Amino acid sequence: MSEERLQKILARAGLGSRRKCEELIAEGRVTVNGQLVCEPGVKADPDSDDVRVDGQALASEAPVYFMLNKPAGCLTTAGIDPDARDTVMRYVAHISERVFPVGRLDYDTEGLLLFTNDGAFAQKVIHPSHETVKTYEAVVRGHPSPPAMDMLRRGVILDDGPTHPAAARIIGERTVSAPARRRTGPPVEELVKGAIVELQVHEGRKRMVKRMLRKVGHPVLALRRSAIGRLRIGNLPLGEIRALDEHELSRIFENPD
Ligand code: URA
Repeated sequence: MSEERLQKILARAGLGSRRKCEELIAEGRVTVNGQLVCEPGVKADPDSDDVRVDGQALASEAPVYFMLNKPAGCLTTAGIDPDARDTVMRYVAHISERVFPVGRLDYDTEGLLLFTNDGAFAQKVIHPSHETVKTYEAVVRGHPSPPAMDMLRRGVILDDGPTHPAAARIIGERTVSAPARRRTGPPVEELVKGAIVELQVHEGRKRMVKRMLRKVGHPVLALRRSAIGRLRIGNLPLGEIRALDEHELSRIFENPD
């Protein structure tokens, strides 16, 4: 990960306020990779540098887990967007642990996004070998026929290979605003009524749900992730984040009904 000011690293490791940690540094009690540091502005990388106070290595941060109902219009990255677009990190600015998003939702996708500082947990959620099921609700153009739904279930051939069998069903319909299909003139929005397709996949390929539905002739107009395993987004409002308890954490690795 990246470098941070030493007093911030010390404060997060539970050594007191940043002010108190600046005092520890000024008192000559802190070393970085064996070198005494007495200046509070010095930066270190808590993952790769050996930071010690009075010769004692820092305790590693306790693991924490959160879920966000990500709104559309923000980028999933722990870094800074070169185009200065809004990122999901604005929703975790108040969390003192160094959390990062688990996996990725597209800029225009809403819904369940997990945050943690636990790399092993994140891998278990993301890596296809663990087969953690992600449930998406896609509002699509038109109403997919039974053969189109069967294609989604069996797997479709995308440019990066076939998709695994997936659960797919139509759960309703919704009217959404979408770019009008016009050949000429400036882009305008129109109201479009489309089916809501629920898809359950365990692969994490880029824009996979959108590509699968386009492939069967039904481009996605709006997309939301409603669940990971048996952990559902429920009625958490868009843009809200909250901590997960033990029971909710275990639901992530259970197969949805
Ligand atoms: N599939 C997509 O196409 N987009 C997402 O954001 C997530 C899954």
